[in-house]
Amino acid sequence: MIRSVVRGFGTALPKRVLTNAELESMVDTSDEWIVQRTGIRQRYIAGEGETTASLGEAAARAALDKAGLTAADIDLIIVATSTPDNTFPATAVNIQNRLGMHHGFAFDVQAVCSGFVYAVTTADAYIRGGLARRVLVIGAETFSRILDWTDRTTCVLFGDGAGAIVLEAREGAGTIADRGILTTQLRSDGAHREKLYVDGGPSTTGTVGHLRMEGREVFKHAVGMITDVVVSSFDATGLTADDIDWLVPHQANKRIIDGSAKKLGIPLEKVVITVDQHGNTSAASIPLALAAAAGDGRIKEGDIVLLEAMGGGFTWGAVLLRW
Ligand code: ACO
Repeated sequence: MIRSVVRGFGTALPKRVLTNAELESMVDTSDEWIVQRTGIRQRYIAGEGETTASLGEAAARAALDKAGLTAADIDLIIVATSTPDNTFPATAVNIQNRLGMHHGFAFDVQAVCSGFVYAVTTADAYIRGGLARRVLVIGAETFSRILDWTDRTTCVLFGDGAGAIVLEAREGAGTIADRGILTTQLRSDGAHREKLYVDGGPSTTGTVGHLRMEGREVFKHAVGMITDVVVSSFDATGLTADDIDWLVPHQANKRIIDGSAKKLGIPLEKVVITVDQHGNTSAASIPLALAAAAGDGRIKEGDIVLLEAMGGGFTWGAVLLRW
């Protein structure tokens, strides 16, 4: 049985750090409110010349280096983003060109904060279906560019950045002892689309628009939706919460992460947290957190790693893999 195994990982962050203290001078907020409600202490904000594609390219190059590969070894690039450089072409083809890659194919996936989980699931399907051997999966965002910087209920929550992994086809025995992706679970329900959306777009306003969110409504659904896909992942593999070595959740809010871990029975020592440093970087948050924990040696070969996310749409999903 073919399994998709993580061969490399990399990240990129903008140069500029924006602290909660600086936000106090921009909107009516406080470091205390932001930390208490979200766990966020700072976020990175893209400056001149820094775009979703430039950050994605840098993360991709780092992941290729870590894997000991070059763009010539890649068959497919999938970029998860809701903040593309242009309405079209896809940011993925932009990054493909920046990497000097003129073979294979590249496309974007748009599932907001669940984007990385959707992109990994798509890559896994291409690999298991024999359509690609090595896939560069990138989560890259510049949410700072769609924020309303006068709206304190949203502008304090988000940040910019990118993370990438290289997935490679390897032969497995078809058991949960295999390295690689063991199951993926995706869901969406467009009935919730107006709880978290951007109020512009090419086909409606002809503008890019700004992010709008009913934060309390999102919060109310988050833990239940995350639990739903994680329980399905356990059912599909026979694994349980006790088998999880590392939970790498989407980093939206420390309270959602803590609440989900508690409900799932996963101790906080096994949860990777980067939301304090990065804020919510949407599709980039999971690969940024994954690289932080794999880079400092917490995640080791053979570990069972659970990725989960919930975001605009609503979309939600989980990936269970052996590192
Ligand atoms: N600074 C100070 N006060 C604030 C701020 C701020 N930045 N923002 C809101 N407030 C005020 C509100 O106006 C309100 O005041 P009021 O009581 O006088 O009306 C008060 O704080 C409480 O507001 P709530 O919205 O009830 O605060 P809550 O505890 O729900 O926290 C938060 C808000 C952090 C947004 C929370 O609801 C949350 O995290 N929701 C989930 C959001 C999320 O994770 N979104 C991303 C999903 S992923 C994606 O797809 C992008």
